[in-house]
Amino acid sequence: MDSQLDWHAARAALEWQLEMGVTEAISDTPINRFEQVAPPPKAGVSAGAQAPAVPVQAAQTFDPVAEAEAAANAAQDLPALQAAMAAYPHCELQKGARNLVFCDGVAGARVMIVGEAPGRDEDRIGKPFVGRAGQLLDRMLSAIDLGRDREGAQAVYITNVLPWRPPQNRDPKPDEMAMMLPFLKRHIALAKPDLLVVMGNISCQALLGKRGITRLRGQWDEAVGLPVLPMFHPAYLLRNPAAKREAWADLLDLQARLNTKA
Ligand code: URA
Repeated sequence: MDSQLDWHAARAALEWQLEMGVTEAISDTPINRFEQVAPPPKAGVSAGAQAPAVPVQAAQTFDPVAEAEAAANAAQDLPALQAAMAAYPHCELQKGARNLVFCDGVAGARVMIVGEAPGRDEDRIGKPFVGRAGQLLDRMLSAIDLGRDREGAQAVYITNVLPWRPPQNRDPKPDEMAMMLPFLKRHIALAKPDLLVVMGNISCQALLGKRGITRLRGQWDEAVGLPVLPMFHPAYLLRNPAAKREAWADLLDLQARLNTKA
């Protein structure tokens, strides 16, 4: 293999590992840090005086959710909230993500859409819903005269439950959702929408404490003092085009509600 080929092969292998969720460079031999023991005693210390080998385990002395609440509530505007999220140290997802995906669209829009988590394209670009599901979302919104690039009453604001891409697009874990929820709630409070559209089970779980999108969709609910419309996630609609009929009904319902409360 010449050195050029070598370079490309190495780069492709590295990108593949990133894609698979590898977040850290480690040594040739794996280290199980949970099994690590305290270092041996210094020369001259008698065997009897030696303390027993104690497994080194980092005791969790902090409350990640309380810390998230304090950081989120201290943020007085959206840029400060984004900075607080970037500085928050307890969500492991951050280590594997390329970008913090915060928002797109118009802050202050009447409609705020809450998706689940960034995928590969969103992670790469740093904006929510820019992949295939996002393109479908844009078409859905445009069908009822809404859009992230529009102004005034037609504008939409978009965010996700999680700002970092989970490795291999796995579902977020309960602790990850719990620690990022204070940031989402503060995000909603600062963006001041009239209503929320929550797309998919993860978003329903985060804001309504419920799952079962097939049952929940189209039923107006309430969270953080706002009306909430659960809808099928556009990625689900791409896999199940027959469900677009229900999604269309929900969009019309959303449009009717916006028109009556103009
Ligand atoms: N799916 C989501 O829920 N959010 C995104 O930003 C992209 C895909």
